[in-house]
Amino acid sequence: MRIVSGIQPTGNLHLGNYLGAIRNWVRMQDEMEDGQQALFFLADLHAISQPHTPADLHKGTLEMAAALVACGIDPKRSILFNQAQVPQHAELQWLLNGTARMGWLNRMTQWKDKAGKNREGQSVALFAYPVLQAADVLLYQATHVPVGEDQKQHLELARDIAQKFNNDFASEDTPVFTLPEPIVPPEAARIMSLRNGAAKMSKSDPSDMSRINLADDPDEVMKKIKKAKTDPEPLPSEAAGLKDRAEALNLVTIYAALTDRSVEDVLREHGGTGFGAFKPALGELLVETLRPISQRFTELLEDREALDAILAQGAAKAREIAVPTLDAAYRALGLVRG
Ligand code: TYM
Repeated sequence: MRIVSGIQPTGNLHLGNYLGAIRNWVRMQDEMEDGQQALFFLADLHAISQPHTPADLHKGTLEMAAALVACGIDPKRSILFNQAQVPQHAELQWLLNGTARMGWLNRMTQWKDKAGKNREGQSVALFAYPVLQAADVLLYQATHVPVGEDQKQHLELARDIAQKFNNDFASEDTPVFTLPEPIVPPEAARIMSLRNGAAKMSKSDPSDMSRINLADDPDEVMKKIKKAKTDPEPLPSEAAGLKDRAEALNLVTIYAALTDRSVEDVLREHGGTGFGAFKPALGELLVETLRPISQRFTELLEDREALDAILAQGAAKAREIAVPTLDAAYRALGLVRG
C-alpha cells in the first residue's frame, strides 16, 4: 500500500479541504502498517497554471506545509514535500504527454470550469494540468489516493494514462505503472460554499464568507456560520426532507462529518430544530475542532527553519522513491540516457 495525495498551496486551507481530504490523509497515515508508505505534497507546480503572484506562492507553500502538520501529518511517519523540489514530477509529466490524448483532457470538468468561454486565453499548463497530476501519483506507484469528489475525474484520467502507457510500452507481466485507486470519504466528499449550496467551498471564491478557513479565529467562525445562507424551515427528521435544500444539507453534512456520524443520524437528533438553534451548535463544534489546529499552525509558522527542513528532508526521500519508476519510463520509451 502506498498512499499519495496533494493540495495546491494557493490560499488558505479550508474546511472543504480538511473534511474532504486532509482528515483522511491523517487517518490513513495513522493506520499505516510496517512496509506501507504515505507521501503528501504541496502542488506548487500546479499552482503556476493560473495567474499568480510569486511572493504569495512562496509564502503559501510554507503556510500550507505548516497547516498540514497542524492537522496531524507527521513528517516522521509521512513524506511531506513540495513538487518543485522533486524535478521527477515535471520530467514524468513530459513523458506522459506522449500518451495523454487531447480529447481526454478536453473532457475534464475542471478545465471546462476554469477556462470557461476563454479557452484560447488559458495557459498550456492549465490544459495539461491533469497530466502532471497523473505523474504525481504514477511516479510513486501509488495504490491509494485520498481526495474529495472533485478530483475523482482527474484520477480516472491518471488510470487511463497508466493503462495506455503500460499497453503501448510495457510487457503484460512487467507494467511500468500501478493503477491508483481514489479514496473519497462517504460523508463530506463535497463541502459546499456557505453562501451558495450549488457551488463547492473553494479557495478561489472571492467571498471569504463562503468558506471556513482553518486559521479563522472563533469569532470569525461563529460569524460565518450564523450568516451562512439557509432557509426558514426547521430541520427535517429524515434525509429525504433535505432534497432541494442544498444549503441546509450542507450544514448538516458538516455537522455529521465533524461528529463522525451519518446525516440520517444527525437528523434523528436535530429534526424539528430551527437554524436559530442549530447554527450556534454547529459553530461551537467547529470552534472546538479548529482550536488546537490553529494553535499549532501559529506556532509552526514561527519556526521557518524547521519548516524548510521538513520539506527538504521529505523531498530527498521522495526523489529516492521516484527515480526507479522514472528510469523505467525512459527505458520503456526507448530514450537513450548514456
Ligand atoms: P485542491 O488543492 O483543490 O484540494 C485539495 C483536496 O481537497 C479536496 N477538496 C474538497 N473536498 C470536499 N469539499 C470541497 N469543497 C473541497 N475542496 C477541495 C480536493 O478534492 C483535494 O483532495 N489537483 C488537486 C491537487 C493535486 C492532487 C495531485 C491531488 C495535484 N496533484 C495528485 C491528488 C493526487 C487540487 O487542486 O486539489
